[in-house]
Amino acid sequence: MVLGGTVDVPDFPKPGIVFKDLMPLFADGAAFRRVVDGIVEHYGPGGFDVVAGVEARGFVVAAAVAYATGAGVVPVRKAGKLPRKALAATYELEYGEATLEVHEDAFIAGQRVLVVDDVLATGGTAGAALDLVERAGGTVIGFTVLMELGFLKGRERLSPRTVHALLTV
Ligand code: PRP
Repeated sequence: MVLGGTVDVPDFPKPGIVFKDLMPLFADGAAFRRVVDGIVEHYGPGGFDVVAGVEARGFVVAAAVAYATGAGVVPVRKAGKLPRKALAATYELEYGEATLEVHEDAFIAGQRVLVVDDVLATGGTAGAALDLVERAGGTVIGFTVLMELGFLKGRERLSPRTVHALLTV
């Protein structure tokens, strides 16, 4: 493991996929602080009311950004994990299909929501998460990731929505 860096894991979770593992970055206190500070500086403290984190690694970043800014946190979860009535969105993943859910009453109407994930690949996950937040009554003010895989063109798929990436490869 390279503390503070990222690790490419070939053939995970399926043959032919190179998984970008950002967990060594999370494990390095100074690097993780730079990530959180970079997001807060970009949007400005007070620029959002709630941070929505996409399961699973988005939770880690969302909680830290929320704590740093006094915002709340809302989880956007994989199917079947939420206890109350939820809205669902199914999307194509780089390696299959998946469904995300958010509680239907997760937001007070008009709350400004920053959506956070670790990686933007094809943009399927992000598109579903952004749709869900809006359907649940949140006002999306931005979408941010630690790493964007530019060659998979997720940013184009999400257009005209904008993407903030701390790092693009
Ligand atoms: C990874 C990553 C993003 C998504 C990006 O999550 O954390 O959420 O893929 O891919 P996309 O842009 O092609 O949709 P994964 O599905 O591996 O779930 P996990 O975080 O629960 O492991």
